[in-house]
Amino acid sequence: MRVIIPEQRIAARVQELAEAINRDFAGRKLLVLGILKGSLIFLADLVRRLRLPIRYEVVVLSSYKDGTTPGDVDFFGELPAARPDEEILIVEDIIDTGHTLERLRDWLNEQYDRPVSLCVFLNKLGRRDADVAPDYVGFTLRTRAFVVGYGLDYAEGYRNLPYIAALESGETA
Ligand code: IMP
Ligand code: MG
Repeated sequence: MRVIIPEQRIAARVQELAEAINRDFAGRKLLVLGILKGSLIFLADLVRRLRLPIRYEVVVLSSYKDGTTPGDVDFFGELPAARPDEEILIVEDIIDTGHTLERLRDWLNEQYDRPVSLCVFLNKLGRRDADVAPDYVGFTLRTRAFVVGYGLDYAEGYRNLPYIAALESGETA
């Protein structure tokens, strides 16, 4: 396993993202919708740096059943209702092929009567297939490597690592 984004860089970048969101949504109310399980850690760090009236809610969504092979996207549970005066910001862990976020965005646009903004911690470009453009990106990775940590898993493991690491060949077998 190789550390590619250390803890201190993550903290600094999350602060910058929060500042951008604070600026862009100044004077407005925000419903922050975290997509679990992957965004749990990022969501917790991000919302604590927001200086806006916010609520956060979570939705459980899973696309990879196990390991690293993309499967069907499943949505679980009810979507939280947005109050009339709230803007909606989706928080996701990573975009890889883009299929998950594309389906999620389409689903949310059907469910909510207003536009949703997208914030992703990692934007992985090596396998992009669907056309989705997040509004806020933590880090862009120009790689196909499978990464773990800071909420991201391999077969449910490694989510608790405080940094982002790339699994090396053999470790995903
Ligand atoms: P996509 O549909 O290919 O964009 O995949 C998105 C989902 O796959 C993410 O929400 C993650 O759950 C998972 N995923 C994609 N790449 C990685 C990775 O490098 N590490 C961990 N999970 C990943
Ligand atoms: Mg995910």
